[in-house]
Amino acid sequence: MSTLEERLLVTGGSSGIGKSIAIECFKQGAFITIIARNENRLMKAKQEIEKFSVNDKQVVHTVSVDVSKDCTYVEKVLKQAQEKLGPVDMLVNCAGTSVNAKFEELDAGRFEQLMAVNYLGSVYPTRAVITTMKERRLGRIVFVSSQAGQVGLFGYTAYSATKFALRGLAEALQMEVKPYNIYITVAYPPDTDTPGFQEETRHKLLETKMISEASSICQPDHVARIIVKDATQGKFSSAIGVDGHLLAILTSGMSPAFSIADAFAGIICMGLFRFIGLYFLTSFNSIVLRCMVQKEKSGKKD
Ligand SMILES: NC(=O)c1ccc[n+]([C@@H]2O[C@H](COP(=O)([O-])OP(=O)(O)OC[C@H]3O[C@@H](n4cnc5c(N)ncnc54)[C@H](OP(=O)(O)O)[C@@H]3O)[C@@H](O)[C@H]2O)c1
Repeated sequence: MSTLEERLLVTGGSSGIGKSIAIECFKQGAFITIIARNENRLMKAKQEIEKFSVNDKQVVHTVSVDVSKDCTYVEKVLKQAQEKLGPVDMLVNCAGTSVNAKFEELDAGRFEQLMAVNYLGSVYPTRAVITTMKERRLGRIVFVSSQAGQVGLFGYTAYSATKFALRGLAEALQMEVKPYNIYITVAYPPDTDTPGFQEETRHKLLETKMISEASSICQPDHVARIIVKDATQGKFSSAIGVDGHLLAILTSGMSPAFSIADAFAGIICMGLFRFIGLYFLTSFNSIVLRCMVQKEKSGKKD
C-alpha cells in the first residue's frame, strides 16, 4: 500500500481470500469496507479484521448487498458508502462462487447464476467506483479470476467461462482507464484453502480431484499477500507459485506487460513453456481416460 490513508472496498470480504486481502491491507493502515450478503458473517469478519489495526483511526465498515442482482441498487448502495466514507482508492472484486459438475449435469440456471455472481458481480461494483476514480485520476481495481480462468478444466464448464470473462473485461477496461492513472489487476489464484473451496471439494468430480492433485493447495493469507503486492505495484496479471507463473506466461496472449523485462521473459520462455504445457495437457487427458476405464471396470455409471 503506497499510503496509510487508502480506502478499500472488498467484495466477498467476509470469507476466504477476500477476508485475507482485507486483513493484509488493514495491517498496512488502510480503511476497509467489506461487502457480502450474510450479515452475521460480515460482523464476525469485521471483528477479526479489526484485531490487526495499526492505528486507532482504523475501522472496518460492512455493507450487506448481493452484488449479482440489480445493478442500480448495487451502484446506489456502494455510492452511498463512498459518500459516507470518502472515495475508494482500491476496489477488490472477490465475491464469487463455483460449481463442479459435468456440462450436461448442470441445469441452465446454474450457468446464469455463476455468470451473475462471478462476472456481473464484478461489473456492478466497478461501475459504482469508476467515475469517481476517473475524476480523481487515481485508482486500482482488482478482479479475482482463477487458474480456471486461464485454462478450461474438466468439470468447470460453467465456472471457467465466468473467470475467462473477467480477463476480457479487465483487458478492455485497462485500455480505457490507463490514461486516467487507474490500474487494473487480474488475479489467478490456484486452489486455496477457504470455506468456499472446502464446500466445493465435498462434491468434486474424481477427474477434477485428480487434476487438482497435480498442484498443492495454497493458504489464503499467502494468496492475499501476493495479490495486494501485485495490485499495489500496478501489475496487470497476478500469479501465485511456480505453476501460476508458468500458466501466466503461457496464457498471456495480448495482455498488458508489466515491464519490458517482463515482456522479454515471456517471449523467451513461451516456446519452452509451450512444451511443458503440452505435457500437462497430455497428462490431464490421460487422467480423464484413466478415470473412465476405472469407472467402467467397477461398473459405475458415468
Ligand atoms: N478458493 C479457491 O480455491 C479459489 C481459487 C481460485 C479463485 N478463487 C476465487 O476467489 C474468490 C473468493 O473465493 P473463496 O474461496 O475465498 O470463497 P468463499 O470462502 O466462499 O468466500 C466467498 C465470499 O463472497 C461472498 N459472496 C458470494 N456471493 C456473493 C454475492 N452474490 N454477493 C455478495 N457477496 C457474495 C461470500 O459472502 P456471502 O455468502 O455472505 O455473500 C463470501 O464473503 C472467488 O471469486 C473464487 O472464484 C478461489
